[in-house]
Amino acid sequence: MRTSIWLIGTGLAASLAVSAAAQSLEPGKVVQPEEAQLHQAPQSELVAKGEALFNDPSIGESGLSCATCHQDFGQYKETFKKPYPHFVNMANAKAGLDKVNAAEMVQLCMVVPMQTDPLPWQSESLAALAAYVQDERKRFAEHSR
Ligand code: HEC
Repeated sequence: MRTSIWLIGTGLAASLAVSAAAQSLEPGKVVQPEEAQLHQAPQSELVAKGEALFNDPSIGESGLSCATCHQDFGQYKETFKKPYPHFVNMANAKAGLDKVNAAEMVQLCMVVPMQTDPLPWQSESLAALAAYVQDERKRFAEHSR
């Protein structure tokens, strides 16, 4: 009897630990600070650089590139059809956010699936990936119409 109560207790503690870990992302890691301006450059230049980074597995620590998951519009949900900022389930589940912009979505995928640090807010890489993602969003919305 004692053993089974102990077992139930342990199971409960383990599941609480798991659910806490699932929501443990510090929102400050991915929320764009008010004073942070993204790097400015001509749109076509940013999109081209963003596409190269999107296909580059060395920008994260997971061994994956963004394209590993997102090739052929893989993993994108309905929310990706709407212009930014918008609600994204992962952003809500991991960091409790109600909406994200394109740069914040890049940061979220850097931290969660790419398992690395967010990019510096002023970096060319972040502006490039955010520009590419907005281009991708338009293609996705067109494609699934
Ligand atoms: C291991 C797989 C994986 C990798 C690698 C990955 N993502 Fe994602 N990404 C996801 C999943 C899963 C979602 C769906 C999140 C949701 O809708 O809740 C998503 C959603 C997105 C969205 C759309 C969110 C929306 O609805 O607005 C964008 C944009 C995005 N990722 C960009 C990136 C970028 C940029 C990278 C590389 C830095 C990247 N992802 C790497 C799994 C991945």
